[in-house]
Amino acid sequence: MTRTHASTSPASTVITGIGELTTVDTEHRVLHDAAVVIDDGRIAWIGPSAQAPAADTSYDAEGRAVLPGWVDSHTHLVFAGDRGAEFEARMAGQQYSAGGIGVTMSATRETDDAVLASLLAARVGDARRGGTTFLETKTGYGLSVEEEQRHARLAEQAADVVTFLGAHLVPPGADADEYLDLVCGPMLEAVAEHVQWADVFCERGAFDVDASRRVLQACRDAGLGLRVHGNQLGPGPGVKLAVEMGAASVDHVNHLDDADVAALADSETVATCLPACDLSTRQPLAPGRRLLDAGAEVALASNCNPGTSYTTAMGFCVATAVLQMELTLKEALRAATMGGARALRVEDEVGSVEVGKRADLHVLDAPAAIHLAYRPGMPLTHAVFKDGRREV
Ligand code: NIG
Repeated sequence: MTRTHASTSPASTVITGIGELTTVDTEHRVLHDAAVVIDDGRIAWIGPSAQAPAADTSYDAEGRAVLPGWVDSHTHLVFAGDRGAEFEARMAGQQYSAGGIGVTMSATRETDDAVLASLLAARVGDARRGGTTFLETKTGYGLSVEEEQRHARLAEQAADVVTFLGAHLVPPGADADEYLDLVCGPMLEAVAEHVQWADVFCERGAFDVDASRRVLQACRDAGLGLRVHGNQLGPGPGVKLAVEMGAASVDHVNHLDDADVAALADSETVATCLPACDLSTRQPLAPGRRLLDAGAEVALASNCNPGTSYTTAMGFCVATAVLQMELTLKEALRAATMGGARALRVEDEVGSVEVGKRADLHVLDAPAAIHLAYRPGMPLTHAVFKDGRREV
């Protein structure tokens, strides 16, 4: 059972009695009987519990495991409506198609700011209660200038960083060329003050490689960082385009040829795997093992959205990566923390337990992090600290 605490930020807190501290620092240290001191929202000291200095307040982890909070680098939380029937039909054999985005677009456009903001807040709350301390979310269910701007504004109030995904789908009934002009012009201008990133769904049925490149170029010219949805539903140009454009991340990466893997391994572009989505769409699980063996940086993210992955459960993604994608626990933990941080280019701030970084910590109701995969699906989050404040 978890409780939500009011946000009070004591100047310093010492967390003692940590049974297993997984740092996810460069050496990926795993410390036992450890303590962490938080000062002014940042990690100030890490060491043996018996030597922990005093602080204004203390918290006894009572032998529990502690790890960095999850960094969920891919979500689509600004939406209304439900696509359970579409999911059920898919489980009965129907194929996923990008067209479902239009269904959510209609439901979301009909939902006013107050309701949309409370849906968003509830989803962020769910994520927090599952141990997520840093969260990206996207627009992409507005698909008009006014609606994309509204979604970006609401997203900004709820998430740590926001991505503009006007190029999610050409909205039903619109002319593809005119819509592209809109995305690269007035829509981009309207959202720019609310977003840090831009994304494009480079896939058959959404945007082809030339259209995707045009969107990415316009967004880069506007000062946004780049991300790409690529190679989700079949082989395609998304990965190579992401690398060519210097995108921080290419997400999905289910269908890769050897050249895609080599391009990722030779680049700074993170390969973000979305295992909950792969299961929900019956796609082959992204080849995380192959990517790591080739030397690529891998992230794990939830991809929470109503069509292909209606979950913010990062613990489930970690469990799936270990149980089904042949990642070791260490690799999966890194992918869900530092991997996500690298995919969002915030690795100097979050993603590991290191002196000087934000005190974003996840206390498990378990003595060791392996319980995340050993007891999959169990509610293992005991407490969550974000910027040093206890939030769960
Ligand atoms: O990441 N692939 C594109 N966007 C989402 C799905 C959106 C939807 O079907 O509503 C995804 O899977």
